[in-house]
Amino acid sequence: MSLTDRTVVVTGGTGGIGKEIARALAGLGARVIVTGRDPHRAATVVDELRVGTGNPAVDAVCADITRQRDLRALARAVTDRCGSLYALVNNAGVNPARRELTEDGVETAFAGNVLAPYLLTRLLLPALERTRRDGGGVARVVNTAGGVPRGRLDPDNLQAEKAFSGWVTDTQYNRSKLAMMAMTRTLAERVDAAGVAVVVAYPGHAHTEMNRSLPLGAYPRLLRPVVPLLKPLMPVLWGDAAAPARNAVRLVGATDAEARAAHAHYLGLRGRFAPWPAATDDPLVRERIWRMCERLTTATGPA
Ligand SMILES: NC(=O)c1ccc[n+]([C@@H]2O[C@H](COP(=O)([O-])OP(=O)(O)OC[C@H]3O[C@@H](n4cnc5c(N)ncnc54)[C@H](OP(=O)(O)O)[C@@H]3O)[C@@H](O)[C@H]2O)c1
Repeated sequence: MSLTDRTVVVTGGTGGIGKEIARALAGLGARVIVTGRDPHRAATVVDELRVGTGNPAVDAVCADITRQRDLRALARAVTDRCGSLYALVNNAGVNPARRELTEDGVETAFAGNVLAPYLLTRLLLPALERTRRDGGGVARVVNTAGGVPRGRLDPDNLQAEKAFSGWVTDTQYNRSKLAMMAMTRTLAERVDAAGVAVVVAYPGHAHTEMNRSLPLGAYPRLLRPVVPLLKPLMPVLWGDAAAPARNAVRLVGATDAEARAAHAHYLGLRGRFAPWPAATDDPLVRERIWRMCERLTTATGPA
């Protein structure tokens, strides 16, 4: 597969799994734009990827995905640079230890894991749709699952208004990733599927910054007593980020027919189609999440 002359954006592409996705896509010849918050880190990674892959078309744009003004500026920068966009990999995620609000007044996990892929995709949709009009085939959006994709979604607790951390799987991180999956199902229904394929992909575990720096408060309560014992095992149990990068790379590198077949699906480990979590099946819950995304993003400008 060759991605020469295709532009792809990888959020959180300056570290962890996103960096490995960016490395693989640059290796396939794509024009890659990585994002992260730290400009120094971004510049270092751009150099590393350019030299390592022999592809000079790697660039970075800095943005914090929990800030809507950054997402809007990122979308403008991408649109100005590329015109048409072949793939958007919404890889960056956040796992805060406690309930905090962003500068937009949104709970941080919901902002980073649900609103960011929602808003960035909507802002970049015209550029994604242009790919087909320009004869470039089917554009792709890959949203990244995480945590344990099961449990319930309480529409009245999406921003941890009632509870932040539960006992087993009911953490705000898991909940926000489930809400992202529900949001993505609605998004997939609303885009023109002939031109843009929308999927959720589960990467699998890797020993990345997110896990290394995860404070105890981000774990489910039952796990907390054993976390200090498990921490030293994590680098062994969860290897580097190259294998978890493969799901997204497979999707971006897929043929148009494969991308269309994957549209509106959830890809589990090793790229296998998996059933959507039951919590995302209720159309009323999906509708409430979509409307909430609309409501929470209109204050900062149009989508
Ligand atoms: N690691 C796992 O075991 C695992 C398992 C399942 C799913 N996932 C999911 O896979 C995705 C990537 O995970 P990862 O472990 O590679 O995460 P990570 O270690 O946190 O990824 C680091 C990258 O994300 C950027 N980043 C972090 N916070 C950001 C923010 N608020 N705004 C913008 N960029 C930010 C970092 O750049 P800066 O620091 O410069 O901002 C860097 O580029 C996430 O969505 C995660 O939920 C991970």
